[in-house]
Amino acid sequence: MARPLVVGNWKMHGSRSEAVQLARQIRAQVAGFNSEVVVCPPFPFLTDVARELDGSNIGLGAQNIAIPASGAFTGEVAAEMVADVGCCYALVGHSERRTLLGESDQIIADKVVAAFRAGLVPILCIGETLDERQAGSTEAVIARQLDAVTSKLDLSVGCELVVAYEPVWAIGTGLTAELAQVDEVHEFVRTELGPWAQVSRILYGGSVKPDNAQALFALQNADGALVGGASLDEESFAAICRLAG
Ligand code: PGA
Repeated sequence: MARPLVVGNWKMHGSRSEAVQLARQIRAQVAGFNSEVVVCPPFPFLTDVARELDGSNIGLGAQNIAIPASGAFTGEVAAEMVADVGCCYALVGHSERRTLLGESDQIIADKVVAAFRAGLVPILCIGETLDERQAGSTEAVIARQLDAVTSKLDLSVGCELVVAYEPVWAIGTGLTAELAQVDEVHEFVRTELGPWAQVSRILYGGSVKPDNAQALFALQNADGALVGGASLDEESFAAICRLAG
């Protein structure tokens, strides 16, 4: 199995001092762990958190990136800019951006390309809504979301891709998909990725907590987790990281 990866998505929470303190606490708790640990703070706190994590085993990720490398794009933040302040990863296509901010499969595919251009590992978030699952179209949705991206990529670039399967109905709701459902979709993702499967890790996301993480990590096709709410609590996040590796 690939090295387990646990990513904390802090979303739009906290102040600068809270972000620094959380980073410090997580750093103290996960030192020496086998799993790879990444945190994604809000943009304005990236530099402070990067400083706090300097020399640690914790990586830094951005929650979003723009498509262009630079230019007149007021309010946007380029992949190159977050790489410049210490990010190695970027979340791309989180369901909150797809649904609340109208990001299309095409935009998301272009952001994955932008991440590679800047030397970042994209964490491509995919997943079906409750309506889509109930209509039996989960696989069609996942295939559409993945194909939009893989059809734009050139494997010879040889970059790593992380895919986070997050059923939209399980995000922040306390609901988690059943293990069999997760395994089935992860297996499908691996097949759909084709040659990209060799250089990809597949994470699960959606109300991951210390008490459900162990069973998720035991799944054959789960290489780790993307954690929202529980990543804001250092004890919970560290417990999940420990269970991963
Ligand atoms: P959650 O969020 O763990 O709070 O469900 C996951 C995510 O949005 O990535």
